[in-house]
Amino acid sequence: MSNAVIEVEHLSKLYELGTIGSRTLRESLERWWYGIRGKEHLLRKVGAKHQTMPADHPQAGPRPNTMWALKDVSFTVREGEVLGIIGRNGAGKSTLLKLLTRITEPTSGRALIYGRVASLLEVGTGFHPELTGRENIYLNGAILGMTRTEVKRKFDEIVAFSEVEQFIDTPVKRYSSGMYVRLAFAVAAHLDPEILVVDEVLAVGDAEFQKKCLGKMGDVAKGGRTVLFVSHNMASIGNLCGSVIHLDHGRIADIGESESVISSYLSLSREANQFFANPSERKGDHRVRIDDFGISPPHPRTGSPLKCTLDIQADERAAEDITVDFSISFVTEYGVKIFQLHSGHVNRGIAVKPGRSRIIAEIDSLPLTPGSYRVNLFSGSGGVLYDWIPEAYALIVETGSISDGIYVDNRGYPVVIRSKWSRTPD
Ligand SMILES: Nc1ncnc2c1ncn2[C@@H]1O[C@H](COP(=O)(O)OP(=O)(O)O)[C@@H](O)[C@H]1O
Ligand SMILES: [Mg+2]
Repeated sequence: MSNAVIEVEHLSKLYELGTIGSRTLRESLERWWYGIRGKEHLLRKVGAKHQTMPADHPQAGPRPNTMWALKDVSFTVREGEVLGIIGRNGAGKSTLLKLLTRITEPTSGRALIYGRVASLLEVGTGFHPELTGRENIYLNGAILGMTRTEVKRKFDEIVAFSEVEQFIDTPVKRYSSGMYVRLAFAVAAHLDPEILVVDEVLAVGDAEFQKKCLGKMGDVAKGGRTVLFVSHNMASIGNLCGSVIHLDHGRIADIGESESVISSYLSLSREANQFFANPSERKGDHRVRIDDFGISPPHPRTGSPLKCTLDIQADERAAEDITVDFSISFVTEYGVKIFQLHSGHVNRGIAVKPGRSRIIAEIDSLPLTPGSYRVNLFSGSGGVLYDWIPEAYALIVETGSISDGIYVDNRGYPVVIRSKWSRTPD
């Protein structure tokens, strides 16, 4: 068995809520980072709300208004291992990475790291805003203990990967968040770290760049380096990571081989066959609001007819009918879009009366193979978004048939369509 490169023992981190303590350079950088991302800074947000922590909260700390962002976490990472870290927002993923990269100190417990760590975290650590891209590359190399010559050798590769060539002599504070992440990732991944730590910042980049980064992380891993990767994208985690930690409320809920941890996380994450208004992700002006969604039969099978109902509420103040498009879209558990039932594909908008009504969409044969899926709901018109509810429903499709009782299995393909087969010459 290969050597342990990270040993985490009973690691805990307690945060004070409602305090605004921005003292270290790193925290200032963090503020600046949230600034360029147009995001409210976490500390400011926590402070401004005078958030309180109920004493019976699972993460309540020993004193009033303290919380355990991470509590009693222990695990070992071996050389060459690619470890994914998953969990809901606030589960403690970023806190764990910040402890491992020494950006913040643990309250108790310890993390032993054997090797040079390069990291790309949510926060703008490692880059100095006043320095140019070029200077930051050298600075980071120096932090990683590389000589100028060594960095020089990697320089062109980094710049090419980051695609910020034109701006390489511009202070990074003038970079867009996308440019910043590109360069930061390129630096972290190319400076030959022994351990590469990547938080979900990649979500900022476009799909193309994300793909490139995932590919690069795969290369780093194949080169025998250790990679720690936080993401909400279960497909990326599943592809890249051999093992996964599922964090929940600051504790390890599950740890092990990636496929099993991911699938139990996904099945936990939402009650099946139940409408979920998803308030934190929902968008739109709610002129035509979706109040409920249901399906019939309640336990559909592959190939069975499916009827979907949308209970909607159109603005009562509207003087006349509102013309609306609806969409019911199906995605895999991993977030891959499969197909949508879109009223606009078959109608020129549906006229709905102010007040409540029910919209029905039907298909003859459900083309999904057995498994779990998510349903996203949409209402809108002419580019105006009335309501968008991602992951409004978790759909379980049972084994069924598209032809004379021959059962269809999944084999990794979410969609099945009827096909005719023949042989020639006959
Ligand atoms: N500097 C901080 N001060 C106070 N609370 C914090 C601070 N950083 C994180 N937290 C809190 O710790 C918890 C874990 O946060 P985080 O590690 O960022 O979660 P994740 O990355 O899994 O979304 C959250 O409840 C968050 O609000
Ligand atoms: Mg995070």
